[in-house]
Amino acid sequence: MDKLLITGGQPLAGDIRISGAKNAALPIMAATLLASGRSTIGNVPHLRDVTTMMELLGHVGADLVLDESLRIQIDASNVVGIVAPYDLVKTMRASIVVLGPLLARFGRAIVSLPGGCAIGSRPVNLHLQGLAAMGAEIHVENGYIHATAPRLRGADLMLDLVTVTGTENLMMAATLADGVTTIRNAAREPEVVDLADFLNAMGARVEGAGTDTIHIEGVPELHGAEYRILPDRIETGTYLVAVAMTGGEVRLKDTDPDLLGAVLAKLTEAGAQIETGSDWIRVCMTRGRPHPVDIHTSPYPGFPTDMQAQFTALNCIAEGSATITEAVFENRFMHVSELERMGARVKLEGNTAITSGVARLTGAPLMATDLRASASLVLAALVADGESTIDRIYHIDRGYETIEEKLSQLGARIRRVSH
Ligand code: EPZ
Repeated sequence: MDKLLITGGQPLAGDIRISGAKNAALPIMAATLLASGRSTIGNVPHLRDVTTMMELLGHVGADLVLDESLRIQIDASNVVGIVAPYDLVKTMRASIVVLGPLLARFGRAIVSLPGGCAIGSRPVNLHLQGLAAMGAEIHVENGYIHATAPRLRGADLMLDLVTVTGTENLMMAATLADGVTTIRNAAREPEVVDLADFLNAMGARVEGAGTDTIHIEGVPELHGAEYRILPDRIETGTYLVAVAMTGGEVRLKDTDPDLLGAVLAKLTEAGAQIETGSDWIRVCMTRGRPHPVDIHTSPYPGFPTDMQAQFTALNCIAEGSATITEAVFENRFMHVSELERMGARVKLEGNTAITSGVARLTGAPLMATDLRASASLVLAALVADGESTIDRIYHIDRGYETIEEKLSQLGARIRRVSH
């Protein structure tokens, strides 16, 4: 298993390129199942989760080719399979987004229940309720979702909770349904908008993505399309927080500042200087320790839960106390106990963490538990005195393309060791 060795204390400086968004690439790759034809998708990040999705699409019969400019060509013409097996789904919960496309195109889908993960039970009841409202017959047995619908019909859907992949699954299913579907209380994340834009490039009729009400008029069939994935706002935010913690000056390219307004506001509050252009962000932190910032996670455009762990790490070295409330997932403070082993002072009360910033953290042997918690441990190790080792970094590889190369480019003392 690989480990990361990090020696802290080095300010970051230089330029890095931001990769395409994982959470847009996954549903967009699944959406190619809706058409009998070839799609070409650019700016796909090279991540474990993307590899898993490629395996899953291959498993149901899609032909996948990485072309010379690293775009993924997916031809779903010969897809005949309708099963997403447990051994693939268990490694990546987001596999659930093949349910809507398989059901809409083939009238049947058998998808392993994703099960929970470190950050919560992660139910998919809203996905299933929505598909049932569109006429699907759904039952769960032996840990698999069995869905059947000779022809889905448009429906007026009100989601009890804002769910990103729930919105995505239902939006994709609705593109081939009979009639018009309205999704109310829809997720407004930029990745939902990116998926809607790809679906429309395939010939779908999706309107209102990015608002809380999305209208989809079903069409008889879709065709393949060319598309380029939007930048990863969470990767962007993670590197911005790294600089706010270590000090220094970094420019992030191929990103989009409009995707992370809430995060930029909190970074400014923490004392970082932020400068932006259409596809770049420059962050400069010369003031030593950051100011503490209170965080309350909520669906987009609120503060993203996927940035909570990173800001918890920042608050651990800030000059003062802060309150962090995780209002989206029920168990997303797994990083706190690891940060405490580095000398952080955090009090957990239910879904709230109260941090009292300390001047110095000390390096320690650390264990990654989930994707964004792992990122917060990397950030803490970059500022800690001495060396840290981070084990089980397959969690990090799921969501951060070549993290040690990008950080080394910025002057960090970090390397990967296999053992
Ligand atoms: C997406 O997960 C992201 N994953 C997550 O990113 C992200 O943290 C999350 O949205 C919130 O922004 C992908 O897009 C692949 P939800 P998703 O459905 O869709 C509850 C990362 O780090 N809920 O919006 O699974 C659920 O339990 C990952 O890249 C139900 O109760 O999240 C949670 O409390 C981690 N029933 C809340 O809604 C349902 O049917 C939001 O979950 C669906 C969701």
